[in-house]
Amino acid sequence: MVKVAVLGAAGGIGQPLSLLLKMNPYVSQLALYDIRLAPGVATDLSHVNTNARCRGYSKDELNAAVSGAKLVVIPAGVPRKPGMTRDELFRVNAGIVAQLVTAVAQNAPQARILIISNPVNSTVPVAVETLRALGALSPGKVMGVTTLDVVRAQTFLSESLGAANYARDGMRRHVTVVGGHSGKTIVPLVLNNTYRARLIAADAKAAKRGGKAANGYAAFVHRVQFGGDEVVEAKQGAGSATLSMALAGYRFAEQVLKSIHSEATEGPVPCFVHLPSIAGGSELQERLAALSGRESRSIEYFAAPVRLEHGEAKHVECAWLDAVHKEEQALLVTAIADLEANVVKGKRFVQSKM
Ligand code: NAI
Repeated sequence: MVKVAVLGAAGGIGQPLSLLLKMNPYVSQLALYDIRLAPGVATDLSHVNTNARCRGYSKDELNAAVSGAKLVVIPAGVPRKPGMTRDELFRVNAGIVAQLVTAVAQNAPQARILIISNPVNSTVPVAVETLRALGALSPGKVMGVTTLDVVRAQTFLSESLGAANYARDGMRRHVTVVGGHSGKTIVPLVLNNTYRARLIAADAKAAKRGGKAANGYAAFVHRVQFGGDEVVEAKQGAGSATLSMALAGYRFAEQVLKSIHSEATEGPVPCFVHLPSIAGGSELQERLAALSGRESRSIEYFAAPVRLEHGEAKHVECAWLDAVHKEEQALLVTAIADLEANVVKGKRFVQSKM
């Protein structure tokens, strides 16, 4: 039984994510922190008849909120709004993430930290470098949450193939996502050869008629990479994905909680990690470098399936690279180039504050 802290708990993601965590049998204390409204959210949730004790912490109570937590989930920050550049979003959220992980380092050095705040490709390096500067970096304890990409890939693959015939849950073993967590850094891997061939055949058929297939491979990849835009547009600029993200974030947190309690997880789980810190990371760096023609040390962070142990990223898998197809190789090359710039941005942010 553990204390879990949600930082940014009153937000669009924070509230449903906190509700889902309130249902988890391993959570004995749920600390909800936000710069606004957290005590209200906590009081509301405290009426739910599950075991976790719920408490809200307001702006000046960050240290108490995280103190003793074994797991800290961070969806704090601003979501993407129309007209906001990625740089503006980054600057605001990078400052928030740096402030929050500093409090975690000082009050809950044993905590696993799950970063949801975007842009994950840069905020995870901000968290890692901030902890390193404080002498509090524990390899494998900082993980960027990319589960929403996997959830979307399963849904969209199912839809492309004809949702009536393919149960969405059954898609889990047929598709995964690696790379990073924005646009072209997101690389879906269709693990089922028959399904990939069907998508590619749909593209070829449409091309013969001089058109594009809505259910083809190109459309599938685009939807996974830019699925977030569908939500931002549909919400008419009032916010980005919150409910699907809360579910995705919870699914990842659930695996971490199981692993903390030595319960078997569903297998390696994709997340965004600092490769040199964990077993298998340097091998993955080398192999991605060989594939992309870049230097291995420039591929410092990557989202890939990771084996958890005691709730920490213990071993990053490389085997998926053996099955990568030529279309996916091309996607990986583009992703690796974009990722490097995102990571550098995060590292520079921390250096500029020292
Ligand atoms: P929101 O604006 O609804 O909620 C954010 C919450 O963070 C607010 O309640 C706000 O008061 C709080 N907050 C702001 N500064 C804070 C600080 N210094 N300390 C504690 N709390 C603070 O935003 P939403 O939609 O919940 O999104 C949150 C973040 O998650 C955004 O950065 C968004 O881009 C990101 N996101 C990540 C996804 C992923 O797949 N990793 C998917 C969707 C969104």
